[in-house]
Amino acid sequence: MVDFKRYTVTAALPYANGPVHIGHIAGNFLPADVYSRYLRARGRDVLFVCGSDEHGVGISIKAQQEGKTPKEVVDKYHEMMKKSLHEFGMSFDIYSRTSSKEHYQTAQDFFTNLLEKGIFEKKVSKQFYDVKLQQFLADRYIYGSCPNCGYTHAYGDQCERCGTSLDPMDLIEPKSALSNETPELKETEHWYLPLDKYEDWLKSWILENHSDWKANVVGQCRSWLTQGLHARAVTRDLDWGVPVPLKEAKGKVLYVWFDAPIGYISMSKEWAAQTGKDWKPYWQSDDTKLVHFIGKDNIVFHCVIFPVMLKAHGDFILPENVPANEFLNLEGDKISTSRNWAVWLHEYLLDFADKQDVLRYVLCANAPETKDNDFTWKDFQAKNNSELVAILGNLVNRIFVLTHKYYEDEIPAITEVTEVEKTLMADCAAYPQKIAGLIEEYKLREALQELMNLARVGNKYLTETEPWKIFATNPERVKTILHFGLQLIADLSILMEPFLPFTSIKLKNALGGLTPNPSPKEREMISKNWDDAGHLNLLTAGNKITQTGILFEKIEDVAIAHQMEKLEQSRPKVEVTEAVVGGTPDTTEIKVGESPTLAGKPEITFDDFSKMDLRIATILAAEKIEKSDKLLKLEIDLGFEKRTIVSGIAKHFAPEEIIGKQVCIVANLAPRKIMNIASKGMVLMIENQAGELVMLNPEKEVEAGAKVS
Ligand code: 2FM
Ligand code: ZN
Repeated sequence: MVDFKRYTVTAALPYANGPVHIGHIAGNFLPADVYSRYLRARGRDVLFVCGSDEHGVGISIKAQQEGKTPKEVVDKYHEMMKKSLHEFGMSFDIYSRTSSKEHYQTAQDFFTNLLEKGIFEKKVSKQFYDVKLQQFLADRYIYGSCPNCGYTHAYGDQCERCGTSLDPMDLIEPKSALSNETPELKETEHWYLPLDKYEDWLKSWILENHSDWKANVVGQCRSWLTQGLHARAVTRDLDWGVPVPLKEAKGKVLYVWFDAPIGYISMSKEWAAQTGKDWKPYWQSDDTKLVHFIGKDNIVFHCVIFPVMLKAHGDFILPENVPANEFLNLEGDKISTSRNWAVWLHEYLLDFADKQDVLRYVLCANAPETKDNDFTWKDFQAKNNSELVAILGNLVNRIFVLTHKYYEDEIPAITEVTEVEKTLMADCAAYPQKIAGLIEEYKLREALQELMNLARVGNKYLTETEPWKIFATNPERVKTILHFGLQLIADLSILMEPFLPFTSIKLKNALGGLTPNPSPKEREMISKNWDDAGHLNLLTAGNKITQTGILFEKIEDVAIAHQMEKLEQSRPKVEVTEAVVGGTPDTTEIKVGESPTLAGKPEITFDDFSKMDLRIATILAAEKIEKSDKLLKLEIDLGFEKRTIVSGIAKHFAPEEIIGKQVCIVANLAPRKIMNIASKGMVLMIENQAGELVMLNPEKEVEAGAKVS
């Protein structure tokens, strides 16, 4: 194991085409922040980089929708994201943007470097061209009928209805989304990064040297590498982006996924210029650990394409780990900027002022580390009320109140150490190491769980010793109990810092006496860190504490009802059928380019297909789901068992008309919670050109549970 001298931590650069939502936070901002804060608490040298990703077609589309220029769009959202992330406590060393001068220069130099090394392949291909507007069309700017489901408004990169990844050439009757004219195919020349030539290197670098990466990450990489990689174009015919630094490439820009990750480097350079430090060791020294925190839709770019770029360049280190998270859903539905189905950070900060740590807690406790997870407002309330308030807040409150009542806020001295204290000390000693180990393995949910377990240890100690009962008869003993209680809170205040920084600083300030005889200035400049915790000896008896007031307030039903109502109002009026056809990642940006092997839905083998358990089921009962105009709750008979399935077909079928019908279902789909109902399976539907759903049922009645193959 290498002993790293410094750490470069990156959080995926969010597109500046919308505000930050909880999916971004749970996916990568929060884990990256917890990790960076933890490293700093251990006294490690950390550079934590993030900023806005300001290029790509998603930005141009947003500009069109808002009647603005792309520059106006990115200026607006960059400021908005930066402000909300700062208020949420993201401890970035720099939050910059990919439209900066430094970035343009760095990205162009990078391109030139690879060009001069002869890395790129130049190829001519045919692309759709809008003759009326005299411009090439990005995949997202072409629409037509989906060859898979017939949806008439599928985009050139993906059908939003059935989720199939498409090539614009696949579309039936393609049209330009800019002029509605039929586009022509025209030849154009682009520079390609030959990923195929790096396949062997990637196989050994990832599958052999980094097989310890998270299973979801290695699994995805293995699947791409097994299928074989293809060269990918790193330039585009667009007018928004970093211009290709070549005379012959007029009107062409770097592909957003070529320039964006270089943003991590250019932003590090900006940080260095602002702080007078040197950026180079953070990107060029082998004793630096580079860690990219990302969401699963970014894996290919951070594990395959960017590493190939870095390797080809040769002057840079490679990521040591890429701990990608899965997706966070919201109330059973995928989060989507374009469909306005999200909890927006800037709104949360207004609605729940000073409750940053509550959201940090809930999102970390529920982090989609190994599988997609669901955020629900009910769970948010429950985690606040029965964990933060009832466990952590209650511990601090009881000890602070008693210290005030019995000793006028003075930290009492130990009078005697009994077996109970010896056990307490032994229990507490293990936590700093335990939590640290989990954070270093990117198991932040478990680490947070252990932090709460330490608070539980404190509550157990109080329950066992009951100082409020014995004060009248044995005040000396109570001194010891409150002394240890306060020491435990001091340990907690340090160990919670990565997760709950706002609460941590409140507690550290309240405990003041973390340093002996602190001056008023020192009370604020808390100097203890991780390695001091665990020994129940941070506080000095005789020093005073300051009352914090209530640390966590109960969240009432009315606040949750308000949020639910707000969400319901933002439900899109246009029918969306994910509950029918399965979820796909938010596609406000082209995630995949021209290589089908890197697409969201690659070709599958017969084995993949045969994993599906398709069956005919009979609908026994159907009813509308309260607060949803698109979902029906179905009771179905599979012969060998009866089940509940939630299906997004309410706009197409009245419950009474489908009872008794036979339908085809995916019987072995992992259960999902939709509107708080466990849905076990998925009903398959056909969508016709007019957008109506048609049931897929057998030609003649068959027994319930019959297999489809
Ligand atoms: O998926 C996204 O939101 C991208 N903007 C992430 C970019 S990460 C990096 F490469 F810049
Ligand atoms: Zn489709």
